[in-house]
Amino acid sequence: MNNRKGILLAGGTGTRLDPVTRVVSKHLLPVYDKPMVYYPLSVLMLADIREVLIITTPEDRPRYESLLGSGESWGVRFDYMTQDRPEGIAHALILAEPWLEGSSSALVLGDNIFFGNGLGSRLRTACAQSDGATVFAYPVADPSRFGVVQLDVDGRPVALEEKPDRPHSNLAVTGLYFFDADAPAIASKIEPSHRGELEITEVNRAYLEQGRLHVEQLGRGDAWLDTGTHETLLQASMFVETIESRQGLKIACPEEIAWRRGWINDEAFSRLADDMAGSSYGDYLIALMREQGQIAG
Ligand code: G1P
Repeated sequence: MNNRKGILLAGGTGTRLDPVTRVVSKHLLPVYDKPMVYYPLSVLMLADIREVLIITTPEDRPRYESLLGSGESWGVRFDYMTQDRPEGIAHALILAEPWLEGSSSALVLGDNIFFGNGLGSRLRTACAQSDGATVFAYPVADPSRFGVVQLDVDGRPVALEEKPDRPHSNLAVTGLYFFDADAPAIASKIEPSHRGELEITEVNRAYLEQGRLHVEQLGRGDAWLDTGTHETLLQASMFVETIESRQGLKIACPEEIAWRRGWINDEAFSRLADDMAGSSYGDYLIALMREQGQIAG
């Protein structure tokens, strides 16, 4: 258990997914068998984070509250805050400052999906790093769409750029950031970019200039998917369906994570499973209990 707190950013207008996001928040859209927001939430939970602030829009907040509630049934705690208009990822750190109460944080974007062998333990290692910031770099075919990091031969970061026309490397900075307690103060000093947003890349650059930015490399055996367009949303669903059907194991199932980490007992887990009986998701939870011999087969 650590005292790092999580921030999940589920704001924004999702205009690139129009018209599907006209009346539904992007991060509530399904990625195969569960709402998109379950994926980044699971990442925080796998990192051992049990207190999460969900930042959303005033219109969407009630939907998130009815989906996720207080978090108690998953053995975690969710709080909610709203951002009236998209002011940039770094703005979330300023909003969250009073809630963080001086804690370190893990900020995750509500549309980022991570998958890989041993991801949980790698996340917990990054989480345990108490000084500076840790970001994750992932090779992509189209780095110009992302924050890009350049590393020296020893894997240390030397430069960061936001959506460069001519990227210095193919390493995108993913939407998962571990920050020490200094991040809100750093965020409040940066100026809005030409797109009118407080860029998270500027916060990371401040850590880089102080020599306190760590970069963890995700490799070709990992998956980092984004869901920003109709195409990539479908690709993410197909990826999840392919792996889940093959393995019979779910990707990003918060109920399972909470149960396996011992945050909820068998009885509480069983109640969650029964609540969803009849859907393949609920049946999966029931089957997990059965395999563990917790209920008669
Ligand atoms: C944001 C960040 C970018 C990062 C990306 C990851 O981009 O600005 O640095 O690589 O998330 O998803 P945006 O989604 O705001 O275009």
